[in-house]
Amino acid sequence: MLVENNVALEPYNSFHIVAKAQTLIRVRSEADVAEVLADPVLGPAPKFVLGGGSNIVLTGDVKAVTLKVEIMGRRLVAEDERAWIVEAGAGESWHEVVDWTLAQGWPGLENMALIPGTMGAAPVQNIGAYGLELQDRFESLDAVDLQTGRTFTLNATQCGFAYRDSVFKHGPVAGASAETNSLGLKDRALITRVRLRLPKAWKPDLGYLDLQRKQAETGITKPSPRQIFDWVCEIRRAKLPDPAVIGNAGSFFKNPTVTPEQCADIIAREPNIVHYPMPDGTVKLAAGWLIDACGWKGKSIGQAGVYEKQALVLVNRGGAATQAPGGATGGEVMTLARAIQTSVYERFGIRLEPEPVVI
Ligand code: EPU
Repeated sequence: MLVENNVALEPYNSFHIVAKAQTLIRVRSEADVAEVLADPVLGPAPKFVLGGGSNIVLTGDVKAVTLKVEIMGRRLVAEDERAWIVEAGAGESWHEVVDWTLAQGWPGLENMALIPGTMGAAPVQNIGAYGLELQDRFESLDAVDLQTGRTFTLNATQCGFAYRDSVFKHGPVAGASAETNSLGLKDRALITRVRLRLPKAWKPDLGYLDLQRKQAETGITKPSPRQIFDWVCEIRRAKLPDPAVIGNAGSFFKNPTVTPEQCADIIAREPNIVHYPMPDGTVKLAAGWLIDACGWKGKSIGQAGVYEKQALVLVNRGGAATQAPGGATGGEVMTLARAIQTSVYERFGIRLEPEPVVI
């Protein structure tokens, strides 16, 4: 086990915020985790599990022992007449796994192409895009309990998936046992491997407006999984900043849901508001539209800014990627986020909830 001290985290978070990990350990297997937990000093210390760093805001140096998950490997673990079950190590790049499954002839993940981050982080926020969420393809995952050292496996129900949410984003729930779905596993579980179920009865998921536009533009009515993958990559590249060039953490806020009555009330005042009726009777509002309507697009606080092409994405206007020294601090990002929340609340009476985890 190699213990590194005062490690620069700038390359390990997609916002490229400057911060250090006081102690960083690269975890390449379950045995590495066991070694950390058995260590008399590191074992009892608080831990911070770092995946691809694509959904975090670092507001200072990390004092907890940083466990950087680098568990690799991809394989087909099972196949029957209905589905392929594919497993990947938590340190694998999500996008590369999507690309690899398609190359193997196992479609089903193409709508989630180009989402930044690692395989292990995908269940934490139940990543999703273009009509599909991780939970729609999830089979199970393996993890290590950082308090007891025990390994365990969770199915989809036990992961408590919801829109950009899971059991891994919540702290312990008083009185809950490991068998209940309400057990909060925040800072407690280190996900080691994730298994996905890819049904053989594949059908394209083209419900999303941007994909329908691609069909109309190209005249391709029956796209292949690889064609959809390429379209999703093109759509994302056109409106989302590449974290390698402009630091960001994807959508900064969740799309809020309101009751039909609240929605009708807002429409009466704001007829153009972008809204989607949900199957459960609630209405989802486009947070990007709300922020845009408040005039935030292109604005900045310090070096933290609102992306010009998509108001839901906050960006780092400096940092190594732009060759401008310094870059935004986590504090600047959070000040900007709070200012946006305040104006959206004052104008629409809606509280926006951040998507990334603030460290
Ligand atoms: N809009 C504006 N102004 C803006 C941004 C958006 O008016 O500045 C409007 C658009 O015109 C559109 C609507 O808002 O009518 C929705 O925008 P978009 O299609 O870009 O999708 P989104 O709701 O902003 C969500 C996810 C994305 C995901 C896309 C595609 C959340 C929080 N975000 O974005 O996920 O890629 O749909 O499925 O649910 C992420 O989570 O990091 C992420 C990028």
